Amino acid sequence: SNTEATKRGALIVVEGLDRAGKSTQVARLAEALEARSIKFPERTTAIGKMIDSYLAQERELDDRAIHLLFSANRWECARSIIEEVESGRNVVCDRYAFSGIAYSCSKGLDYEWCRNPDIGLPLPDLTVFLDLDAEAAAARGGYGEERYEKLEFQARVRQAFHLVAQDVSRHGGQWSTVDAGASLDRVTEEIMEKVRPCLDEIRSRGSKIGRL
Ligand code: ADP
Ligand code: TYD
Ligand code: MG
Repeated sequence: SNTEATKRGALIVVEGLDRAGKSTQVARLAEALEARSIKFPERTTAIGKMIDSYLAQERELDDRAIHLLFSANRWECARSIIEEVESGRNVVCDRYAFSGIAYSCSKGLDYEWCRNPDIGLPLPDLTVFLDLDAEAAAARGGYGEERYEKLEFQARVRQAFHLVAQDVSRHGGQWSTVDAGASLDRVTEEIMEKVRPCLDEIRSRGSKIGRL
């Protein structure tokens, strides 16, 4: 049929605090959907290496400068995400622009200022937020030496993610919150329960991917 010919893949984003279980669940989801998985920050590019050294606390950068680098790091992958999705492949992202807003906002930067540089990026068909309180996240193996891996800051980021959720929903985006404190398998099941209808809808509508 006509819709069959124009079938595109889905762009699914997994968000959450450090240690919420994103990387574990993204790996499972990518396997289930035969998807390409991408992780942000994408640390292998020139920009990604600057971000990596900032997170490792080897270099200091102005809060706005690092915010723009995180965004630029998504922009340098945007074309390939669109091509992948248009070729019919699903793409699963470990963090995306919503992390960009939540973390920078938590440093006191203006919300709208934080949102602006990501405007125009491919719009996720669904964002799954793995919700976990900062104490429970910290208890998972403990934090390392990376910047932001501190209880008090993570608690602020969680609140900021809740603001982002409201904003995304207001702009007509699809945002689903999953209790990340449940068992690994239970979290996977809940994610799949949100993802399946999203895939069905894309298949039946055959619409083009949107923009943030
Ligand atoms: P993130 O990518 O969000 O930082 P990870 O997937 O790397 O999180 O998981 C962080 C740690 O928590 C790992 O040690 C992982 O095995 C553990 N973990 C992940 N999900 C769960 C869960 N649902 N229950 C208990 N421990 C978990
Ligand atoms: P990540 O490697 O995903 O950490 P983890 O697996 O522990 O969750 O992300 C590294 C850090 O970068 C994390 O603290 C969140 C932060 N970050 C931003 O501040 N802005 C962004 O745009 C992104 C993508 C991540
Ligand atoms: Mg991770």
